[in-house]
Amino acid sequence: MMAAKWDPIQYVEDDDLPVMEIGPWAQKKFKLVGKYCDIFTKGMKGKWNLIYMDLFCGPGFVRNKVSGQLMRNSALIAMSTPVPFDHYILNDFDRAAFEAMKARVDRLHPELSVQYSCADANSCVEELLAGRPTFSNSKQTLTFCFIDPFSLNLDFETIRILAKEKVDILMLHALQMDGNRNRGRYWQPDHERVARFTGNPDWRSKFADDRIPVHSFCKFLADEFDVNMKALGYRLDTKKEPISMGSRRIIYYLAFYSKHERGSEFFGKIQRGNNDQLELF
Ligand SMILES: C[S@@+](CC[C@H](N)C(=O)[O-])C[C@H]1O[C@@H](n2cnc3c(N)ncnc32)[C@H](O)[C@@H]1O
Repeated sequence: MMAAKWDPIQYVEDDDLPVMEIGPWAQKKFKLVGKYCDIFTKGMKGKWNLIYMDLFCGPGFVRNKVSGQLMRNSALIAMSTPVPFDHYILNDFDRAAFEAMKARVDRLHPELSVQYSCADANSCVEELLAGRPTFSNSKQTLTFCFIDPFSLNLDFETIRILAKEKVDILMLHALQMDGNRNRGRYWQPDHERVARFTGNPDWRSKFADDRIPVHSFCKFLADEFDVNMKALGYRLDTKKEPISMGSRRIIYYLAFYSKHERGSEFFGKIQRGNNDQLELF
């Protein structure tokens, strides 16, 4: 008999610890991150020491606010792939979310090697990378980092630190959700959000005045980010995966970055398995 196909969407029982409310569209995010972890661990195990890193890990369980169903979030999905990673790094700056995640991992996955951190993702990455275990073999270490903020609250400086090591990245770009919605505020001279996200303090000089058209601003943010990624040696050969509310309104994109064609090949395969794939811009 064929083994049942592994499904990243995993429903759970309430355990009275904090949960995060999500919209139904977040399930596509969980599918993508879970399927990537699955293909990555199956394809790379034995050749590398594999690490999963989640800089915005949340409390571990989420509740679909429409159906009421409770399910595992990104980090707990990554911990349940048929072939496990060799080590996991989980960070969230919110103490309650962090404690809930730790309690759930202790209960559900006591066998796994896990490194915890409760800090701002933009200030702890160097320390997290330095704290990775030293493996007693001659293989190199490959880290898959999931970056899942609610907003554009990710400094490009953080990516620069990750890029010094062998780190593939799947990142949520809150271009519409944050970038577009707040572009008037971000235009104010004392607002640093876009300068930090793009790593370019002079970003305003690229616009003639403060009437930034919606479409141009989202595209500008995506392009600036990608140009910077390319300069760090990351390939730009995978399409950003849109996550939409209903059939039309795109809320955010998931963008994948690797320096190696194998990573892009894996992510492309995952995308082809999703039937609601759309092109960006
Ligand atoms: C969108 S949730 C993502 C949770 C998780 N990845 C999931 O699959 O549901 C964002 C999480 O990031 C945390 N967070 C927001 N800003 C942060 C920061 N600067 N550093 C670390 N954690 C942060 C929040 O507390 C929240 O738990």
